[in-house]
Amino acid sequence: MSHLGPIAWPPEPIKTERLVLRESEARDRAAFIDLLASPEVHTYLGGPIARDKLERETPEVPERWPGSFVVELDGAMIGQILLRRATEHRRPAAAGKADLGYLFMPQAWGFGYAAEACTAALDWFDGVLPGEPVVLTTQSANVASMRLAAKLGFIEVERFEAWDAEQWLGMRPPATPAA
Ligand SMILES: CC(C)(COP(=O)(O)OP(=O)(O)OC[C@H]1O[C@@H](n2cnc3c(N)ncnc32)[C@H](O)[C@@H]1OP(=O)(O)O)[C@@H](O)C(=O)NCCC(=O)NCCS
Repeated sequence: MSHLGPIAWPPEPIKTERLVLRESEARDRAAFIDLLASPEVHTYLGGPIARDKLERETPEVPERWPGSFVVELDGAMIGQILLRRATEHRRPAAAGKADLGYLFMPQAWGFGYAAEACTAALDWFDGVLPGEPVVLTTQSANVASMRLAAKLGFIEVERFEAWDAEQWLGMRPPATPAA
């Protein structure tokens, strides 16, 4: 994965009904370590990263790059949304396209926060890179992620085997400009 390319970054914090999306800050470091060390979060993502490795290697301001949003609820980080560009090593249908990822803390699952935050991030994306589709890869066994992808308007492109599991590649067609 590489970055989205030349875009204005960071945007003003994006406010939704319940959440704020913003770039990462030094104060998010502990939450990032919790998120990346969580076995539950990584059930369908190839397993967590060891906490002691994260403690050693996580920069003071983690994951600060164009397209990486911290999702905040009542002032605390509950998740991360990632919009990156899929590299040429990916499936041909995905290569070069913007790719959506999402990771939320287990305590925050099941309240619709992921859908609310991803919708806002995709709206932002449509504003900065209008007319571009977005792709998403998830294990088909990851029911919550599959439901979320469908809710966000992703449509199946193909299923394929990788990383010892069936993967689902979905695409969200570009927003059509209002007539
Ligand atoms: C994927 C993830 C962000 C979804 O979070 P969430 O809080 O469940 O999302 P939402 O509350 O917005 O709900 C999305 C939908 O999934 C459903 N859902 C959530 N958990 C579910 C589960 N265990 N089984 C079935 N459906 C589930 C919700 O009910 C909702 O569908 P609905 O609106 O039709 O009811 C969260 O589970 C997560 O962070 N998982 C770990 C990281 C990951 O696997 N990311 C995917 C790779 S990019």
